[in-house]
Amino acid sequence: MRIRDPRIVAKLGEIDVELRRGTALADLTSLGIGGTTDLLRIKKHESLPDLLNLLDANHVPHKFLGGGSNLLVGDGELPWVVLQLVRPEPDVVLHGNLAHVYAAADLGRMITYCAKNDLGGMEGLIGVPGTVGGALRMNAGAYGMQIGSYVREVKLHRAASRKIEILRGDQISFEYRHTSFAPDDMMLAVILELPSKPFKEILQGIRICNEKRRASQPLGQKSAGCIFKNPPGASAGRMIDELGLKGLSVGDARVSDRHANFFVNAGHASAKDMLTLIAGVRERVEKTFGVSLEYEVVVWNA
Ligand code: EPU
Repeated sequence: MRIRDPRIVAKLGEIDVELRRGTALADLTSLGIGGTTDLLRIKKHESLPDLLNLLDANHVPHKFLGGGSNLLVGDGELPWVVLQLVRPEPDVVLHGNLAHVYAAADLGRMITYCAKNDLGGMEGLIGVPGTVGGALRMNAGAYGMQIGSYVREVKLHRAASRKIEILRGDQISFEYRHTSFAPDDMMLAVILELPSKPFKEILQGIRICNEKRRASQPLGQKSAGCIFKNPPGASAGRMIDELGLKGLSVGDARVSDRHANFFVNAGHASAKDMLTLIAGVRERVEKTFGVSLEYEVVVWNA
């Protein structure tokens, strides 16, 4: 979708929002898949209510993009614009055990920075690509930990009130790859309360997680991490593997040879290829195991 009305363009400038016309979302997602639309880069949180009012008043649909690492975007010209926060500098500020982090901060860099300052707890998430905001909204987790356990406070733009609000950690429910945030709530910043640990000890934990991840996941390839959630008490990856589906392809969309719940873009896969592959695998799992796998990846299909 393109913003052509010069009055909207002028207003965007006034509220400090940068318009990047005709952006290919394939370049902004870890899968390397996705069509084209206008990208609005938000330089100040405070302009968000004005921006959303402007878009709504002019009937411009929108979606919020984080780091694009858990996302499958449709092909072609997309029927909505995309909003993204510009990463401020500094994006992490420490006060004792509290890490004040902007949502646009890179997750891995935030974990490393805290580690260097003897704050741990987040070792399991090292190697997970994406932003802190994205990790927060879906309660990213790995190797027995999840980010939600460390949340003291979240600053967000709430879709329901159309205001910037602050929620305490205990006002938010964090479940397996799910939170009580509404789909249109936009994460702005978070305060994490992290346990003190010597850097050396954290580094050891980070190394162990890195090794496990390297041994079991296709890290060098274009993917969106795990495609399906694990059903209670089972592993989606193991089920897909047991069906012998590693290497199954539709065009350049392919079930990873290394981890069967990772579907990779081995070249120039389209969203259509990837969605066809996902639907086919899901059907096979349902037929054999009687389990309907739920998507873990977020799908923005027009
Ligand atoms: N397995 C297979 N074949 C495969 C993949 C896995 O047999 O192709 C077996 C493994 O041998 C193991 C079991 O399945 O016995 C579980 O595998 P793994 O330890 O890789 O964990 P997972 O359940 O597949 C989950 C998360 C990952 C997270 C890892 C490590 C989900 C959907 N996946 O994977 O998260 O990194 O544990 O904690 O919860 C993600 O969220 O995108 C993601 C990749």
